[in-house]
Amino acid sequence: MPLSPYQLLPHTIYGHGLSAATPAEGGDPAPSSSGEVTETSIAKDAELLAVPFAADAAPAIELPVPSAALLDHYQAKGEAGEIIEVPVANGDAVGRVLLYGVGDGSAADLRKAGAAVARRGKGKDTIRIVLPEGPVAAFVEGALLATYAFRMGEKKSTSVAMIEFVGEGTEAEVAKGKLIAEAVALARDLANTPSSVKNPAWLAERALEQGVTARVWDEEELRSGGFGGIVAVGQGSVSPPRLIQLSYEPEGATEHVVLVGKGITYDSGGLSLKPTAGMKFMKTDMAGGAVVIAVLGALASLGVRVRVTGLIAAAENSFSGTAQRPSDVITQYGGRTVEVLNTDAEGRLVMADALAYADAELDPDLMIDIATLTGAIGIALGQGLGAIFASDDDLAAELIDAGESSGERLWRMPLIDDYVPGLDSSVADLSNIEIGSTYGAGSITAALFLREFTGKRPWAHLDIAGVGRSGADEGFLSKGATGYGVRLLLEWLSAR
Ligand code: BES
Ligand code: MN
Ligand code: ZN
Repeated sequence: MPLSPYQLLPHTIYGHGLSAATPAEGGDPAPSSSGEVTETSIAKDAELLAVPFAADAAPAIELPVPSAALLDHYQAKGEAGEIIEVPVANGDAVGRVLLYGVGDGSAADLRKAGAAVARRGKGKDTIRIVLPEGPVAAFVEGALLATYAFRMGEKKSTSVAMIEFVGEGTEAEVAKGKLIAEAVALARDLANTPSSVKNPAWLAERALEQGVTARVWDEEELRSGGFGGIVAVGQGSVSPPRLIQLSYEPEGATEHVVLVGKGITYDSGGLSLKPTAGMKFMKTDMAGGAVVIAVLGALASLGVRVRVTGLIAAAENSFSGTAQRPSDVITQYGGRTVEVLNTDAEGRLVMADALAYADAELDPDLMIDIATLTGAIGIALGQGLGAIFASDDDLAAELIDAGESSGERLWRMPLIDDYVPGLDSSVADLSNIEIGSTYGAGSITAALFLREFTGKRPWAHLDIAGVGRSGADEGFLSKGATGYGVRLLLEWLSAR
């Protein structure tokens, strides 16, 4: 099995100052000596040396030609993502210095700058990066995430093997950026793993590795516990469903947050079978669950002060003789009946059980769910913005803020009460999709369905179906799963 969480991120080491000596990996960093970088510092070890510059700040390095004239020659503006390569003497050979633009120095620009620099290290053993001023954690995050790649079997091209970050007094920020990037990489690994490997039991095993208290319900326990939605969705598969609960309980916590993630390890649509074109991406239908697992695993190292319970509702939505049928009536956790009119609207059925259980048993102050819930949200907002639906304005505003600063933007969508009758059923308390098309709005009706199971708790629902995957290697995204939600939830939780 070639998979090991985030092993594909480059090794990083940390240097305090702009010293020519490189510390051994894992050893003490070289004694700091701030000042100008000279060509000799790349001659020693790193194949590439990267140094920041901005429209109003020349790079702090001695170059073979005057830097102002050089930047002028290339009409360099110092934008984030801009890179000027300068050949320099490297002993008897030629080395390269990369001058990278930092834009306005904001977290968003530094994330972009970090990604651009790291991508230039492709195929190299080492790149030494002199850190910019400002939010360094974002820069490190961008650099590490840009090197992420998921491959089973031989690697096609390799990202830089080691990055040395150099900058005085930035050690804590570098460590934070690395922690966050590792959490995102774990979420990506989980979602990129093919469903031939990743079934609900496998996902539960990965969750158990996160160093927090865990409880896992197997199929029998789910059935006897009244989790009718998770059981119904999972009953068509040879790999039975699981509900996974992860608990992070720091001493002195006064607030309790529940995070619920959709953990559909493959979504064929069930008997309401998807066409191949839509089905081939459905190994990532547990992306929300992956985010919850990765977030729970990172809380202790980030020193988060609130109590957090993660619930991952895991099932494979398969097509078989034991699968649920359109027109079946199921009983969700808590007793409400649902007429299943489309077995491809399965996410809301597993999420409803988990939300109802959290409301009834866990007494949370806030509930946030994250799910690749509806294809319609990708049509509404595209690949750049996640959707947030919320029953609480403060919670919505806080999460939107956390999205802005973490670079995972959210757009608030409305919970339109007039559309609630769209979920009426003639035989059950609710139906899982609208019959006919009086109301439309597939993402809104899905959110309204979930709201039915949240009691009176402040609740937010993040629909990441549009942003959960990337079609290309671009900036800090790699083709495949994005891990969208890890950064914004960690940002929001760290601030509490
Ligand atoms: N997992 C899908 C949503 C999805 C679609 C995620 C595309 C990522 C990309 C979800 O379970 C689903 O199938 N939703 C249906 C709902 C419909 C049957 C009401 C959809 O969006 O078509
Ligand atoms: Mn589906
Ligand atoms: Zn789904």
